[in-house]
Amino acid sequence: MSGALVGVGVGPGDPEHLTLKAVRELRDADRVFVPATAASAGGIGRAEAVVAAHVAPERLVRLGFAMSDAGGRDGKWDAAGRAIADVVRGGGTAAFATLGDPALYSTFAYVVHTVRGLETDVAVRMVPGITAMQDLAARTGAMLAEGADGLALVPWTAGEARVRAALDSFETVVIYKGGRELPALLDVVRASGREDEAAVGTHLGLDAEVVSAASASTGPASYFSTVLVTPARAGAPRGGRIA
Ligand SMILES: C[S@@+](CC[C@H](N)C(=O)[O-])C[C@H]1O[C@@H](n2cnc3c(N)ncnc32)[C@H](O)[C@@H]1O
Repeated sequence: MSGALVGVGVGPGDPEHLTLKAVRELRDADRVFVPATAASAGGIGRAEAVVAAHVAPERLVRLGFAMSDAGGRDGKWDAAGRAIADVVRGGGTAAFATLGDPALYSTFAYVVHTVRGLETDVAVRMVPGITAMQDLAARTGAMLAEGADGLALVPWTAGEARVRAALDSFETVVIYKGGRELPALLDVVRASGREDEAAVGTHLGLDAEVVSAASASTGPASYFSTVLVTPARAGAPRGGRIA
């Protein structure tokens, strides 16, 4: 009988955004796996930096992930899956710490797929985490949605047309994975007539955090950037968006 694999969302960067449930799962697990990419400073990934205050170093295991090259990536996922399977095979619990929420564009999805291929009866759980879009809304004071508002979350990597369509159809639009091409992304926001409603948050929750109006943004930014477009509400009556 296999044990459990728990995807633990640790928030975008600020260790205070870990939930009490996340801290408990991290403390109870037999091993805590953290992604470390080649680009991480000294191999220490952001998730590891967040959980380091709560987990003794000897219970932490770094997993290398090569996100850019498909050949290396498959090998890394296989190796990560085997390391986690070794823990759950004997009935142990493996926690996988992931930035934001584990159900949202997270490596956790691939980890689950791989581990289930090795240990078919592994129990999988998730602990939800605070997402970058929630943190940016809090930092800017913007309401993500009111009343009948719709909210779209689109990665820039889905293509300019998808982003443009979302901006035309949804009151609130969040764009992930576009930091490195921020000028092109903001051109699309500007063309939709919504530049004044847009904010950019980079490295949220970290010392290097920058939050600015889209109109003040200059040049490409880090991959860890989020663009948030919310409808202008100035002067709207209280509850005016309730349908
Ligand atoms: C692979 S997705 C991970 C999303 C994450 N699972 C979540 O729930 O927010 C990576 C994207 O999330 C956003 N992101 C994650 N952490 C961030 C941070 N600290 N500051 C700004 N954006 C962040 C960026 O848009 C980045 O390109």
